[in-house]
Amino acid sequence: MRSGKLTRREALEKCIAGGSLLAAAPISDVRLFELWTQEKEIYKATPTNALGPFFKKGAAETAILRGPGDPGLPLTVTGTVTDLSGKDLYDSWIEVWQTDHFGRYDLEGYRYRARVSATCGTGYAIETVMPGHYPDRVAQHIHAIVTSPGHKTLVTQIYFATDPVFVGDPDRNYKRDPLVENPELIRPVTLHEVDGRVHAAVNFEFRMEKA
Ligand SMILES: [Fe+2]
Repeated sequence: MRSGKLTRREALEKCIAGGSLLAAAPISDVRLFELWTQEKEIYKATPTNALGPFFKKGAAETAILRGPGDPGLPLTVTGTVTDLSGKDLYDSWIEVWQTDHFGRYDLEGYRYRARVSATCGTGYAIETVMPGHYPDRVAQHIHAIVTSPGHKTLVTQIYFATDPVFVGDPDRNYKRDPLVENPELIRPVTLHEVDGRVHAAVNFEFRMEKA
């Protein structure tokens, strides 16, 4: 079923038909459509990062990974999924997995594993805890696989500027974890109070490249 929103082409056709859009110089409709619908790429694609060995298919659709009373710093991760022109992408899915506060992956079940959809305008949000460190990895991270029709599947990881391993300067120290290939994946963390507890928040936009 179609939403009531017009495509750019439909909007342009209506403007021409209604006389509210006039070309100042002779220009064919075809050329006008070409120019109007050109998407300018203003963003770079989100850097890819290793899938790692702990991905498990079959995670449930939920935005809440954190259980009541779970130890660790409560963390909200929000953002949007867009193309390289900044346009929100409908029908995008983000699959995330991470360790708990103690640096443990759930290999038996699906704790701290989830699938969330990104909706136009509001993007996505997940409620989790700050992942712990574990022996084979230096930096705290959340894994993500993002899929969007017509775009390349993005496999990446989210890192945190507050991670002690970056010693307060992620741009200089990101190579302390050899798997962090690009400091763009390391995001600032903001802290705020919720019901007398400190909560952390991170923003992470997924910029998708056309397939
Ligand atoms: Fe990992």
